[in-house]
Formats: sequence, structure tokens, C-alpha cells
Amino acid sequence: MEKRELLYSGKAKSVYSTDDQDRMVLEFRNDTSAFDGKKVEQLDRKGMVNNKFNAFIMTKLEDAGIPTHFESLLSDTESLVKRLDMIPLECVVRNVSSGSLCRRLGVDEGIELDPVTFELFLKNDALGDPMVNEYHVRSFGWAEEAHLDRMKELTFAVNKVLKAMFDEGGLILVDYKLEFGLYKGEVLLGDEFSPDGCRLWDKETREKLDKDRFRQGLGNVVEGYEEVGRRIGITF
Ligand code: C5P
Repeated sequence: MEKRELLYSGKAKSVYSTDDQDRMVLEFRNDTSAFDGKKVEQLDRKGMVNNKFNAFIMTKLEDAGIPTHFESLLSDTESLVKRLDMIPLECVVRNVSSGSLCRRLGVDEGIELDPVTFELFLKNDALGDPMVNEYHVRSFGWAEEAHLDRMKELTFAVNKVLKAMFDEGGLILVDYKLEFGLYKGEVLLGDEFSPDGCRLWDKETREKLDKDRFRQGLGNVVEGYEEVGRRIGITF
């Protein structure tokens, strides 16, 4: 496999084509951004930590029967993935109230949600990724009905696997964001799963060990990610 030209550079990852038209290389960079790119910093080791974190989680999800785009680790900061036709939606599951849910609804942080909440956001940087509902998705044709159903099904399946896995490591999976795409007609989990895109709290102390450390200026951001990784059995 040969890495070729840069196709796309996002806030924290770059995507390269390969000599195989069905495969791409994801490069995890140290860039860390929040608040729609208004706060940006380079965090030493973050690219490596997120690449290995994502590889570990995607492999666990595949083992649990959840189809993902992940193929293999290529280097400390690069992974080989299937090339997906991305669906322009973010799927968020919330087990505990936090973040934009609290700001939007004026509810306290830390409320256990039963049943858990599912939200959809449109991927649109210029609009700041607005929240949308399933009727919007249908009316504007952002995803086919069957694909939307599958995305929801997979997002909840991920919750079952990861909630239990983090719980064993003494962590609460508060919420997370997933993105999906189509590969030969099948919906696969794409993008990444790392502490950049989820919230994880220590079960006892409720210490935040995810990107909120960066958003809230708490320091030791990558150290938090590594602590989570260590507790679920990742060696960096
Ligand atoms: O900001 P909000 O509370 O809506 O985020 C919900 C979850 O989705 C958090 O875990 C956050 O890290 C993640 N998220 C993300 N990328 C976005 C928006 C949210 O990874 N663009």
C-alpha cells in the first residue's frame, strides 16, 4: 500500500489517498481545537495517543459485530481505513447530561439519563453543526431512511459495548459522537472514537478525563487520555 496525495485536512486529522481506490490513510495530528476552531493548540503526543486509542476501540467494536472502516495501524500516528462516502450527520448518545445539552435545556450537569438520549447534528462548519431532527434528515435527503435506522441501531450498539468496557475501567461514558459512511452500500462506522469525541469521567471522583480538559483549560489533557487508555488496557 502506497500513501499518495492529501485529500482533506480537518481540525485534528488529515486524510490521504492510497494506490488502492477503496483505502485511505488517516493521520492523527497533535492539533486540538474547540469552540468551532476558535481555540486551537498543539498537544504533544496527542496524535499518537488518539491513533492508538481509536485502533483499540474500533477493533473492540468489530469484535462485537459492529462494522467499522478501520483496517490496521500503519504507524504511531497513521491508520489504514476503508474509503467511505460520508453521511453528513453526527450521531450523539448521552448517558449523562453534560455539554451542549445542559446549555440548551438549562439542566444540571451529571443527571443520569434513563432512557438515554439520542441527538443528530448536521455536519456544517459554517453553521456550527446545528442540531437537526429525523424529519429534517428525511425532508432534505441527508440520509436514506434505512441508513438512518442503521446509524441509530449501530450508535446504540456501540453504547452497549463501550459503556460496559469503560465501566470495568472505573469510568463513566457520559456521551459520544459518531459518524457513519457508506462502503459498497453498507453503513460503516467511520471517523474516530477517541477522548476528543466523547466524555469520560472517573466513576468515583467524577474527574473529567476527555477533551473537556482542553475546553475548560483544566490542563493535563493528553495525560487524561492516556489514563483512560491505561485503564482499558491500551499501551501507548
Ligand atoms: O458539545 P456536545 O455536548 O453537544 O457534545 C456531545 C458529545 O459529542 C461530546 O462527547 C463531544 O465531545 C462530541 N462532539 C464531537 N464533535 C462535535 C460535537 C460534539 O466529538 N463536533
